[in-house]
Amino acid sequence: MLVQIPGLLSPDDVEECREALEAADWVDGRVTAGTQSAGAKRNLQLPEDSGIAKGLGKLILAKLGTNERFTSATLALRVFPPLFNRYDEGMTFGTHIDNAIRFVPASLGAGTIRVRTDLSATLFLSKPADYDGGELVVLDTFGEHRVKLNAGDLVVYSASSRHHVTPITRGSRWASFFWIQSMVRDESAREQLFELDSAIQGLRKQIGDNAEVVTLTGLYHNLLRRWADV
Ligand code: NI
Repeated sequence: MLVQIPGLLSPDDVEECREALEAADWVDGRVTAGTQSAGAKRNLQLPEDSGIAKGLGKLILAKLGTNERFTSATLALRVFPPLFNRYDEGMTFGTHIDNAIRFVPASLGAGTIRVRTDLSATLFLSKPADYDGGELVVLDTFGEHRVKLNAGDLVVYSASSRHHVTPITRGSRWASFFWIQSMVRDESAREQLFELDSAIQGLRKQIGDNAEVVTLTGLYHNLLRRWADV
């Protein structure tokens, strides 16, 4: 699964994020990497317990909570508190796979909270014209997907995929990244629910809630009830 969510943040939200990030202290990105990915990772990050990261993270979580496409595509149960990274000229992140389980730092949650990373997300905070390179490349059984989106756009993709960020050859690429544990663990079931929901929403716009649309909506919810763990 690879789903784009355009305009998650408005231009004003992006500006707010960028202003806060300008004032932040960046550290080596290997602080949150697993052993294998640490060898491939060359970028900068905000520390997980940074006040700026927490504040901006809240803004992003609030936007996710009201975004219908995000909700439908991910069926999110838990979202890892958003992190922030930055690739300056020459920086890159070689091919790796994200850790299956992430622990929310104690300073961000009560007790130990684990998030199974069903989906990975990148929220672009730089305009594509502001840098060269820096494409997110996701590898799956359908081949290679190259992603470079407008500032404020989000991409959500299977955390089970191998992926990398191509080297920056000009400028700087800023982004937020995080993981999602879905109520529906099975990827194929989740994809079918997303497709069914999208089709139902399209039909409702065209013909309203007739008996068949209500029946399909019922089927959607009954499948969700069967497949979801909450
Ligand atoms: Ni990754």
